[in-house]
Amino acid sequence: VEETLVLIKPDGVARNLTGEILARIEAKGYQLVDLKLVQPDRELLSQHYAEHEGKPFYAPLLEFMESGPVVAIRLAGNRVIEGFRSLAGTTDPTTAAPGTIRGDLGRDWGLAVQQNLVHGSDSVETAQRELALWFD
Ligand code: GTP
Ligand code: MG
Repeated sequence: VEETLVLIKPDGVARNLTGEILARIEAKGYQLVDLKLVQPDRELLSQHYAEHEGKPFYAPLLEFMESGPVVAIRLAGNRVIEGFRSLAGTTDPTTAAPGTIRGDLGRDWGLAVQQNLVHGSDSVETAQRELALWFD
């Protein structure tokens, strides 16, 4: 069965949305294989976001991700990589569809694109790489 890395980002944890987000994941039928609260350091984040190095939002993104604890989840299920990204909605919560995590819970102001509550791996290769990073 397929596995993906899901992160509840610092905004999701700080806004007490962990339970709400987990409820949506569980309602979909995905299996929580492993879950932990982590304070990620710069080393971990720079590896996690290596593909975005050099982009204008890279430095603020790392700063934001370092700003508080994150919930890291090893999630399993049929086509869970694509399925979770569909559950999460598009990157920018201001345009994410209603019914999605970002569309329903994301805030329509400020740094909405950056503070978009969750992360989900985007391919099988990425999922393997990211799961190895966050869960030995
Ligand atoms: P993830 O599941 O978090 O990887 O989201 P994604 O795959 O929808 O987006 P992507 O991998 O392209 O970007 C990673 C993260 O960088 C996003 O989730 C945002 O938090 C942030 N980000 C992406 N694009 C922008 C942008 O244009 N501006 C800002 N400020 N942040 C961005
Ligand atoms: Mg991504």
